[in-house]
Amino acid sequence: MANERTLSIIKPDAVAKNVIGEIYSRFEKAGLNIVAAKMMHLTQEQAEGFYAEHKERPFFNDLVAFMTSGPVVVQALEGEGAILKNRDLMGATNPKEAEAGTIRADFASSIDANAVHGSDSAASAEREIAYFFNDNEICPRG
Ligand code: PPS
Repeated sequence: MANERTLSIIKPDAVAKNVIGEIYSRFEKAGLNIVAAKMMHLTQEQAEGFYAEHKERPFFNDLVAFMTSGPVVVQALEGEGAILKNRDLMGATNPKEAEAGTIRADFASSIDANAVHGSDSAASAEREIAYFFNDNEICPRG
């Protein structure tokens, strides 16, 4: 499997539950290195821009409102097959459908407050990492 990078966001609900460390631990135990990280409170404009592809979906305004409701932690993860590996760790979008032991099954309460985001493709990962990080903020492991 190829070495890849993916963009992960720990969403406001998970930050409020104080499970940042637990989630980071899952990434690291799965062989995903955190190569860039920042905590931030997204503005309306930042959240709308990040989720622009979902602009026409009925939940867009709720999603933006939720993502701007409190601080998030944004990270780039690097490792073998990082995009799929992170999606597997996250579990299904709806926590009620997420497999036991996944981040969403353990920490998310609903489809609109679902603890984490992860890029869904190589193209998304590239766009999303560049959305939050400059090249000089990414620190690959040797
Ligand atoms: S995914 O993960 O992209 O395959 O899921 P998708 O169904 O396309 O959803 C895109 C993002 O919208 C979020 N979402 C919702 N937010 C609020 N309310 C409802 N009902 C809802 N349904 C989906 C979903 O969590 C995705 O956000 P991210 O940040 O990508 O996980």
